[in-house]
Amino acid sequence: MEKTMLDKIKETSSFIRGKVSELPDVAVILGSGLGNLADKMEVTAEIDYHDIPNFPVSTVAGHAGKLIFGTLGGKYIMAMKGRFHYYEGYDMKQVTFPVRVMKDLGVKTLFVSNAAGGMNKEFRVGDVMVITDHINLFPENPLRGKNYEELGTRFPAMTEAYKKYLVKNADEIADAEGLRLMHGVYVGTPGPTFETPAEYEYFRIIGGDAVGMSTVPEVIVANHAGMDVFGLSVITDLGGKDVDYVPTHEEVQQAAETASPVMVKLITEMLRKL
Ligand code: HPA
Repeated sequence: MEKTMLDKIKETSSFIRGKVSELPDVAVILGSGLGNLADKMEVTAEIDYHDIPNFPVSTVAGHAGKLIFGTLGGKYIMAMKGRFHYYEGYDMKQVTFPVRVMKDLGVKTLFVSNAAGGMNKEFRVGDVMVITDHINLFPENPLRGKNYEELGTRFPAMTEAYKKYLVKNADEIADAEGLRLMHGVYVGTPGPTFETPAEYEYFRIIGGDAVGMSTVPEVIVANHAGMDVFGLSVITDLGGKDVDYVPTHEEVQQAAETASPVMVKLITEMLRKL
C-alpha cells in the first residue's frame, strides 16, 4: 500500500530521533543572510538532507542542505540549512514537508528568514524587516487536498500568522542593541522571475512592504500545525514603478550577507528570551 503523508512524517521523524540525543522545541529555517547562523551554533549533530528518508531530493548540484542540531543563545535548537523552493519545481507538499517533521519532533516555535525585494519607500538595501503578516500569491495552498485532523484543522485561522509577542520581543532587542529594524507585510510569489516595475508597484498598492519567493508555504503549514512563527526578511533590493534596476542573484546574496550580523544578533537574543 502506498505510504500516506502521515506515514512519511512518522518515518522521517523516527529516523531523526535515532540520530539525535535531544529533541528541540525551536526550529530555524535559514534563508539568505542567515546561512552563517549555523557557524555560531554549538553543533551536536548534523544530518544531510539526502540521507533523510522522504526529504525531497535536491536537483541542483552542490546545493544539498542539512539539518543542524545544537545550541544558540543558550537554547537547544534545530536549524534547516537550505530550504526547498517552489520555483525549483518541488510541489507545495514537498516544500513544507520539513515543517511537518519538525512538528512531529516536538517543535513549538518556528523562526524563518528570507531575502526580499523592498517596495516600502522607507526601506534601504540591507535593512532587516520583521514580518508582521503576509499575502499569499502562490498559485496553490500547501493545505489543498485531504486534511489530516491529526495535523490540524481543515480551515485554519491566519489572523496571527506571525506572533505579536515575538514581534514585541524583537523590537525590545532592537531597541536595546541599537539595531535598525523595520516592520512589514511579506508578499510570497512563486518566482523565479524578479518583479517588473509594475508588479512591485502593484504589490505595494495591495499592502505589501517586501516581496520574495519563499516562506509563505512553510508559515501556512506551521500555523496549521499550531506553531508560533517569527519571520525576518533581509531587504536585498528595492523595486517600484520608477526603479528600472533589476538585481542580479549575486547582488541579492551580497546584500543578504551585509545584513547577516544584525540577523544573527537578533535571532540569538530572541532565543535567549524565549
Ligand atoms: N523579488 C522577489 N524575490 C526576491 C527579491 C525581489 O525583488 N529580492 C530577493 N528575493
